Amino acid sequence: MDYRGLGALDKKYVWHPFTQMKEWTEGATLVIEEGLGCFIKDTRGRWYLDGVSSLWVNIFGHRKKEIDEAVKRQLDRIAHSTLLGLANEPSVLLAEKLVRLLRESFKGEKRHQLTKVFYSDNGSTAVEVALKMAFQYWIHKGITGRNTFVSLNRAYHGDTIGAVSAGGIEIFHGTFRHLLFKTFKAPSPYCYRCELGLHRTSCGMDCLHEMEKILTGHATEIAAVVIEPKVQAAGGMITAPEGFLRGVRRLCDKYGVILIADEVATGFGRTGEMFACCTEGVVPDIICLSKGLTGGYLPLAVTVATEEIYNAFLGEYGQLKTFFHGHSYTGNPLGCAAALAVIDLFEKEGTLQQLKPKIEILHEWLKRILRYRHVGDTRGAGLMAAVEIVKNKETREPYPFEDKIGWRIVLDVRGKGVFLRPLGDCIVIMPPLAISPENLTAMLSRTEESIAGITEEERP
Ligand SMILES: Cc1ncc(COP(=O)(O)O)c(C=O)c1O
Repeated sequence: MDYRGLGALDKKYVWHPFTQMKEWTEGATLVIEEGLGCFIKDTRGRWYLDGVSSLWVNIFGHRKKEIDEAVKRQLDRIAHSTLLGLANEPSVLLAEKLVRLLRESFKGEKRHQLTKVFYSDNGSTAVEVALKMAFQYWIHKGITGRNTFVSLNRAYHGDTIGAVSAGGIEIFHGTFRHLLFKTFKAPSPYCYRCELGLHRTSCGMDCLHEMEKILTGHATEIAAVVIEPKVQAAGGMITAPEGFLRGVRRLCDKYGVILIADEVATGFGRTGEMFACCTEGVVPDIICLSKGLTGGYLPLAVTVATEEIYNAFLGEYGQLKTFFHGHSYTGNPLGCAAALAVIDLFEKEGTLQQLKPKIEILHEWLKRILRYRHVGDTRGAGLMAAVEIVKNKETREPYPFEDKIGWRIVLDVRGKGVFLRPLGDCIVIMPPLAISPENLTAMLSRTEESIAGITEEERP
């Protein structure tokens, strides 16, 4: 079917996520039919650099031989069998490999070793599982009343109700307020727009003191602190200052609460380390992983817990200590086969080592474009970054929401062969880790042109 036919059918039948469908049905639809390396091709034959890794999932590019073959090999054996009452080979092998990877990544930290892998199928469910696990853990320990969580303002943990309860982005989550369970919100470490009105150069990371105040007042009500370590991704790639994460770990230890690290976006090399927690030598009690886990191939997620948490769930059948949670596609063999190939590729290709020059290119650019009158802030870690566009740099006043400044910029750069998706006024830069330095440079240059063009500035 040609692109016009497909576009028309899409508009007639498909309801797109996070999309105002009135606008969508009035505009032109880009239909993707193919991918190769870091590029995707539409049905009109135009190629685009996949500048957001197909929504932060792709690592080694599209049609990566080793992952393709691993999935095909598995397809020749079985596509799916349940983990409810059965095991399957790829999920067993992947669990072992993940535990080893976590142990190697967090070497030297014995206290919170992550050894038990619970499968689900997307980032939201990985978080949902973590919240329920932490909550039930305390019940099994005979400690009642730990019915709530601490999370951060501007947090995003997914779209299921538990994940939304832990979320803190008003525009996404506000509507559902009455459906949500109670959580305590600590300030986001968003230094550019500090909630406490402080400046990073002179503050004592007072946002941590605010979190401590919550814990002091409510420690017996709190099951866990849940955070996106290092980078609050959907909040606008808000990058926590050095020491924040260690501070959160310290507080969890001091007040005896579980630390849940949602590494759905940051995991698998995005921040330059295998996991964002490694950037500060922090080991969480529960870690949530998805997105990059399968290299952007298939929906799969894991929630990995410590032995201590797992052991609390052991008991006689009649004691009902079982973790009553599971999904139809839990531990899907195709997804696990892809993930096994991904972990092998990290080792074989030295992916983390190869990242260093590309991270330098990106971060040099982030520094340089701060010269523009409408670039308020640039931030990020590793190969995940954002450029925050503002109307007035002195006052940090944003553009009016209806101006859609972020969208205007990404649509402009799309015309230059780069696919990006903004977060409000933030232009997100998050290419596959395998992007070449040349393609990264081209992508940044075209993005810069569009930022300058749309905000009506000369390129310096
Ligand atoms: C940190 C974080 N947690 C959870 C999720 C939800 O993942 P999914 O969209 O796979 O449900 C996301 C998605 O962007 C995320 O960035």
